[in-house]
Parts: sequence; C-alpha cells; structure tokens
Amino acid sequence: MGKGSIVAGVLAPHPPHLVYADNPPQNEPRSECGWEVLRWAYERCRASIRALNPDVLLVHSPHWPSFIGHHFLGLPRFQGLSVDPVFPHLFRYRYDVKVDVELSLQIRDRVAAQGQLTSVVENPDFRLDYGSIICLHLINPSWDIPVVLISANQSAFYYSNEVGADVAKIVGNATREAVEASGKRAVLLASSSLSHRHFVHEPEIPEDMSFERIHHHGQYLWDMKVLDMMRKGQCRELLDIMPEFNEMATAETKVGSLNWLLEALGVPDYPAEVHGYGTVIGTGNAVVEWTASKPRGAQ
Ligand SMILES: [Fe+2]
Repeated sequence: MGKGSIVAGVLAPHPPHLVYADNPPQNEPRSECGWEVLRWAYERCRASIRALNPDVLLVHSPHWPSFIGHHFLGLPRFQGLSVDPVFPHLFRYRYDVKVDVELSLQIRDRVAAQGQLTSVVENPDFRLDYGSIICLHLINPSWDIPVVLISANQSAFYYSNEVGADVAKIVGNATREAVEASGKRAVLLASSSLSHRHFVHEPEIPEDMSFERIHHHGQYLWDMKVLDMMRKGQCRELLDIMPEFNEMATAETKVGSLNWLLEALGVPDYPAEVHGYGTVIGTGNAVVEWTASKPRGAQ
C-alpha cells in the first residue's frame, strides 16, 4: 500500500443552530436565517477541503463519550434520526452514513496496541452522535465521502486535563500511523467549540441575531488568544496552555478533540487558516483549517 496522509485538519464546531439555519432537507425544523458569518466560514472551508479530494473524513466528537477506552464503528452503514437533546426544536436530522470500516478497525488496532481499551460497535441500530453528524454535514453536505468516527474518552473529567491530553496524544498518533499505512487521503475534523459558557434562555425566535453575543468578555479574550496562536503556528505552545484554557473558558476542547487533531497533525508549526469566528448562544466557535501544503495566504 502506498503512503497515505492526513491532507488537512479542521476545527469544526457543531452547534445545531448552523444546520437549522441552513434548512437542509434532512432537518425537520425550518428557520429564516442566522449565524451567517459562521456558515459562510464553513462554506469557504468546505470548498477548500473538497479541492483536496479526500478519501475519508475522520471525526473526534465530544458527544460520543466513552468512559472506558475508545469505541469504533464496525459496520459499513448507519441510518437513523439524530436529535440534539438540548435543542430538539432545532435539530431533528435524518442521516445515512457510509463508514470506512477498514480504516476504523486499523485505527482501533493501533490504539489497542498502545494499551488502550477498545470496543467495536456492531449494532446496526446504534445512533450516531449529533456532534459528528453536524460537523460532517457542514463540511460535506452531500455525504459522498466515507467517514470514521472515534469516541471521546472522558479521562480529562475523571482524572485531569493532563491525563486527557496524554490519552488524546496516543489516539492522535495511532490515527496518523493508521492513515499513513492505509494509503488514503484523510481529512480530520475536531468537532468542538472553543469557549463554551452559554446563555440558558433562548429568544422567542431562535435565529433572532439581536440576542447573539459572547457570554462574557473573558471568554472572548481567551478565544482570541487561542486563535492568534493557531494563526502564528504556535500549536506546541497552545497544547501547553490547553489545560488552563479548558478551565478558564469552560472550553469544549476539554474533551480532547482538538488535542487529538493537533497530535495527529504532528503539532503544526505552520499558520492555520481561520475561516471565521462567531458566537452561538454565547459560546465561541471558529472554523479553522490546517493544510500543510497550502499555508495561510498562499491561496
Ligand atoms: Fe457540543
């Protein structure tokens, strides 16, 4: 098998509001508009990823939590209705997903070889998590590229941010090695917001943008600090401060999806492309692309 590669990595947040505002046929609720800056950011990123012609999209999602080890999908197709438990009035989405089972199990084997516990989902009625479904829809709404989903081990919550980072590093390295051995062109998606403190009351019209803003200034400062480091290629330093960011900004990155992405990419020292930043019910969200073959500003 020829040498495969991770051709790009994307920080790909999953607020259901972005799908709701897009009105795709798969989603039942209808909207008027909303969160355009983030949706336009996804449009730009989508075109950039499509141009790379990937064979497979890999997702690490906070909403497939696993408390013991990591879970992987072992069947070639999953169909069902995905409902966001917090926003069921915004996201009721019918999905039909093709899985690259071969690569899924190759990553599983390499994670297991590092001493991590693993299990494989072989229940055809298993419901895929909405964090994966949403970012996959936003990156590839035509669903014509097979996917691999990796569950998010909860060691950062059980133990510490540092233990969580160690586990994400193991899985990130295993992911890169498996992709290289597969001969495939892979794009990795870290399905995650940045700062994640949010409002607890929703306006009568969910897409009424006169209510949308960051929850508080401290969160915004943290988000801008983190994005500045990404734009400067300072990902090693970003990993160093991630435990503090996770706590100070109540960041969704605590789950480890961004750590997994950066480790799998070999901790980039080249500038990332920030396609856009915006808030959703007060949380901070950015669509960020790392493509080593296309440094920022070289398009
Ligand atoms: Fe989430």
